[in-house]
Parts: sequence; C-alpha cells; structure tokens
Amino acid sequence: MKKNYLDDIQNTLLLGAGPTGIAPSTYRALSQTLLGHLDPYFIRIMEDIKSGLRELFQTRNEVTVPLSGTGSAGMEAAFVNTVEPGDKVLILENGVFGNRMADVAARLGAEVTKEEFEWGTPVRPERVRELLAENSYKIVAIVHAETSTGVRNPVGEVGELVKDSGALYLVDTVTSLGGIPVKVDEWHIDICYSGSQKCISCPPGASPITFSDRAMEAVRNRSRKVPNWYLDMNLLTQYWGGAKRVYHHTAPISMMYALYQAVYNILEEGTEAVFARHQAAHERLVSGLQELGMEMLVAPEYRLPELNAVVVPEGVDEAALRAELLNKYHIEVSSGLGPLAGKIIRIGLMGYNAMDYNVDRLLAALKEILGK
Ligand SMILES: Cc1ncc(COP(=O)(O)O)c(C=O)c1O
Repeated sequence: MKKNYLDDIQNTLLLGAGPTGIAPSTYRALSQTLLGHLDPYFIRIMEDIKSGLRELFQTRNEVTVPLSGTGSAGMEAAFVNTVEPGDKVLILENGVFGNRMADVAARLGAEVTKEEFEWGTPVRPERVRELLAENSYKIVAIVHAETSTGVRNPVGEVGELVKDSGALYLVDTVTSLGGIPVKVDEWHIDICYSGSQKCISCPPGASPITFSDRAMEAVRNRSRKVPNWYLDMNLLTQYWGGAKRVYHHTAPISMMYALYQAVYNILEEGTEAVFARHQAAHERLVSGLQELGMEMLVAPEYRLPELNAVVVPEGVDEAALRAELLNKYHIEVSSGLGPLAGKIIRIGLMGYNAMDYNVDRLLAALKEILGK
C-alpha cells in the first residue's frame, strides 16, 4: 500500500438509494473508546438500543434487536428463522427487493408463490384478499418501501387481511424505518427488519429486527434447527436478553455505538418532526423537478418521500447525468434497476440528508446540467 486513499476521499453529498449522510454526533460515536461485548456498561447501551428501536418500530415486542450485518442480514434472518422446507410462502412483489425475498425463501425450500404487481405501482389489497381466500400460507411477505421504484406499499391494509388468515406477516422496512411511520403492532406485523444506512442515518452494518411473540413461538417450535447458526434467533436472544448474557458472536461495538447515537438523534428530534422534515424535503424536490420539466414515476399517493424515482427526460443520457452530478457537483444519486435501468434516476432524501438546502443544491446542479 503505497498511498493512503483515505486521505483523498471527496466529501460527496449522498442523495442516492443509501447509504445516506450521517450526523457529526454519529461520526463521533464511531470513535468512542471500545468496550468489551459483555461489559456491563455496553450491556446498558444494548438495552437502550432495544428500547429505542421499539419506539421506532412502534412495537412492544420483547425481541427487538439489531443484527450484526446489513439489511440483507435482516431479510435472511426473517426467513431462515421461520421457514421450513415445504412451507407455503406468499411474496407480494413489485420490485427488486420483493424478488430477492422470493429467492431467499426458495433457497430454504419454501413453496413460494410470487404475486407480481407492476413496478412503479403498489401491491393491491383486493388481490391479496383473493389470494388468501384461495390458499393458506405460513408466511405472507411484503416490502414497505420498495427502494427500486419509490413505491410505498399499503402494509397496514394488507396486515388487516393477513391477520385473519393466520399467516405470519413479514415486512421489509429497510427504506422506511426512521423516514415514514412504521407501526408494527397496529399493522399486525410479526417479523419486521430494517437497515441502518437509510433513514436511520447510520453507516451500513446493522439491521434492526423485531419478532412478535407469535413469531418467536414459531421459531422455538420448529421441527428442525434454524439452518443458519449466525442468525438463529434462539441463540441471539441469549446474548441480547436475559439477566445473564451468553456470548454468541463479538458484537461490532463501534457500529452499535453509532446505531445508538443515530436512534438517539431521531428520538431527540421527535419522530413526527423527522417524518415532517422528510415530507417537506420531498415536496420541495418534486416542485423543483417539475419546474425543470422532470416527472415522477410513481403516482402522488404512493410516493415515498425518502426515495424519489424520477423519469429521465427524453434525449438525456442517464448514466452521463449521474456521472456529471458525481464528478462535477459531488452529488451521488442512484440509477434505475432491472426494467427501469436507464429510464429513471433515484433520488434519496434520507435521514440527516433530508434537508431543504440539500434539495436546493441538487436542483441547482440539475438545472445547470440540463441547461435550463
Ligand atoms: C427494501 C430493501 N430491502 C433490503 C435491502 C438490502 O439491504 P443491504 O443492502 O443493507 O443489505 C435494501 C437495500 O437497499 C432495500 O432497499
């Protein structure tokens, strides 16, 4: 290593699909003195992280913990703990992450039914009602904020239907937690996971997850062991709970400090104020884009404030647009995925970066690039 590349990192404004920017207090948390993973003081911090996450998830679930891993660890843990070979799993799919859920469940031997909804539109509860009337499932899974399209799915409405069917309700809130309300108990969600690097405004590396008592009962009463040692909730709960903590793996201490601080920041500002800040930044962006003649992919009622899918105007090279934003203006936005590649850009207004002045900086750059 002849040169230290860390010395030359540019200060890029992260307005893509994640990670997003983090607060100075969260950077400071990362540099705090390390403690041991069983140190009583660290255990106090763990307890506070759990209670903070319960507030964010709006749940009373005892089992509410951060996993050591990114959002994908949450997805993997949600399925690997609950699925046994042959179980019927219904995935409500309208984007990349719904597809990934189907892949994860199928690898575990589930009998997967993937119900597809057009990308850029939400899951339709009427169709879910029909599916649940025709068949019974062990698990019904949905992505709350589909990051690949910017669609907000009607998780509460679908939850009312799933509740009556007896299935476990599994929800991905990687791009929603901390940006828009997530109501685990009110929406009858059994298993819900998220990621640290989006609206929570923490570096990537932690995955908050919560299990209802009913879901934990299913995990405890499996006919065979959870086929993944690292993510087995039976083992993880012995480290994250109880009077005597049992070593499972060495928790990423600094990451947990950062998560602690990031959750602390959200609760200190107040969740309602945080949601309003995301919404205000989103509205400012949408009206600014309209002035530039740019259109949103998603109908207003299903738009996520934190993830804006914007149609690339005719004749504009999407990759060149993003490259110029990054290289000349030091702003990162994301490309479209799958069938939307080349057709949209995705603008994230998440957590610490969901601010009017960031929106204005982006709009000014777009105006110059598009020559308006
Ligand atoms: C909705 C959704 N689920 C899951 C993931 C996977 O999370 P990670 O990339 O942190 O592993 C992402 C990441 O963007 C996501 O947006």
